Amino acid sequence: MATPEMPQKAPYPVAVEAGKSYWWCACGKSASQPFCDGSHKGSEFAPTKYTAEESKTVYFCGCKQSKNGALCDATHRNL
Ligand code: FES
Ligand code: FES
Repeated sequence: MATPEMPQKAPYPVAVEAGKSYWWCACGKSASQPFCDGSHKGSEFAPTKYTAEESKTVYFCGCKQSKNGALCDATHRNL
């Protein structure tokens, strides 16, 4: 498994809307973090779909090492 790039060692706070789906960039190469812009093409990475259950601010992982999928689980603090 290749190592993803690390756009930042901190989460990205995003105000999500209930019922809307978001594609989190898992490879770290997207220019529109924290979301996929197609830059993963040709690599073994693919974006992770996140569907918001309610409208609120969520913290998408920016270090790309979270074990909680698209969302920050504080792993960045140990990097
Ligand atoms: Fe990173 Fe698509 S650009 S997963
Ligand atoms: Fe990746 Fe927090 S930013 S775990």
